[in-house]
This record gives sequence, structure tokens and C-alpha cells, in this order.
Amino acid sequence: VLTAARAPGRDDVAVIAHRGSSGIAPENTLAAVHAAVRQGADMVENDIHRTADGELVVVHDATLSRTTDVEQVFPDRAPWRVGDLTLAEIRRLDAGSWFAEEFAGERVPTLQEWLDAVGTRSGMLLEVKAPALYPGIEHQLDQVLRSLPHHEESTRAGRMVVQSFDHGWLRRYAELAPEMTVGALFAARPGVEDIAAAAGWAHQVNPGLEVLDEATVTAVHDHGLAINVWTVDDGRAMRRARAWGVDGIITNYPQVLLDLGT
Ligand code: G3P
Ligand code: CA
Repeated sequence: VLTAARAPGRDDVAVIAHRGSSGIAPENTLAAVHAAVRQGADMVENDIHRTADGELVVVHDATLSRTTDVEQVFPDRAPWRVGDLTLAEIRRLDAGSWFAEEFAGERVPTLQEWLDAVGTRSGMLLEVKAPALYPGIEHQLDQVLRSLPHHEESTRAGRMVVQSFDHGWLRRYAELAPEMTVGALFAARPGVEDIAAAAGWAHQVNPGLEVLDEATVTAVHDHGLAINVWTVDDGRAMRRARAWGVDGIITNYPQVLLDLGT
């Protein structure tokens, strides 16, 4: 059974910081990564897009409006897509002030900076957000991850996971990087056929909390896969998911989950 979301030595649920500890720091910034590592999260989750000049960056939306001051800095560049601005332009943006003044000056990190900030201090759950927008991104990601000094150790331990809602793309990536743990994201409840299909090429099935039930957890485990649920911020929902046997809980508030104890 592939329980890749688990940190070695833990037999309880893995604590996965969603976009970093994004409940207490601006999502997907290095401040959010540092908070997650400090709190002792088992893994840090992120979202990956690509700039106009081909750099991989960590940001959730395909546009920069919600989480930066891009509309003030570049008023004539609507609709402010990540893929329409260069890295140098994106580096000028403030990715922290929208969240709280104390985070003014946080930047949109490159994937490399994000990877360096996590290092081996925590596991990594990397989400490629909209691969259809970025042809060839699977090769680029593969190259970046392979060049990490801890690549072999992290992949072997299941501490580096790539996930996506785009299963066709993820399957291609998995063929390219057979040593990597891959997770199929589901927004709708995965039926037994979906789980069986995923078992042919993936290691994890990662559904949203709204569609999670105990039967799904059991079905995923019966197919030899691990299951991580997103995004769970409420202690009662965490307890329920844990009782159903999920392998990992993806949360904006890792401390809430850690405080529940085992
Ligand atoms: O880790 C899964 C979860 O992050 C998927 O939803 O929109 O937060 O990327 P989203
Ligand atoms: Ca995500």
C-alpha cells in the first residue's frame, strides 16, 4: 500500500499546510512556507504556474489580481495573467499587503525559491494548476525536481508528491517521472470506477472535503492508494476525516490539526 502522504515514522494523519500556513500568512509566499515549517507541518502544498518568459512560479490563480497589487503596478495589462507577465515584472509585485500590512514586500516566489525554502525540513505537495496553459511544463518540472540534491531520498520516502486536477497531464508526467508519487485531485466525488482508473497510474486520490465520505476512504484504500482531503480548517471535520482513516489532511491551519493530538 502506498501511503506516500505520511511522513516516515508517523502512524497518524499527515499534516499538510495548504498554500503554506495560509491561515496566518499570505498564501504561497515564503512567509507561509516558513510558518508551516516552524509549526511542524509534515508537508507543504503549493500551486504552480509559468511566466511569459518561461519561469515556474508559485501562485494559486492563473491571474495575479487577487493576491498581488498587479492592477496598480500594471494598470494597462488586464486581465493580469501570470503567463502574460515576465518574471522581472512579477517580482515587482507585492504579494503580502492584501493579507496584512506586516507582510508588505512578500514576493511571488519562483518554484526554485519555494523548493529551497522547504528543503528537507518538510515534505512537498506540488500542484500543477493549469498545465494545458503551459505546454511542456511536465518536462520543465521534471528537470527542476531532478536537480534537487535530495531528489532521490525525497522521492523514495514519498516526501515529494505532484498532484493535479488534470489527470491526462498528470498521467503523462507520471510516465516521465515513474519514481515520483502522484496524486489525482478530485473536486467531485470519485466513484469506484474513477478510483479503479486512478489506481492504474496514480498513488493518491485527493478529494475535496465536501465530497468525502467514509465509503470513499475505504474504496481508495481497497485499491492500494493513499487519500488526502482538502481543505479542512475546522477541528470537528478534521476529527471526522481522521476517524474515517484518511492519510493526510490539507489545511490552512496546521496548528489546529497538530493541537488535536493523536
Ligand atoms: O491540495 C488540493 C487543493 O489545494 C486543491 O484546491 O483550489 O486550493 O488549489 P485549490
Ligand atoms: Ca492547491
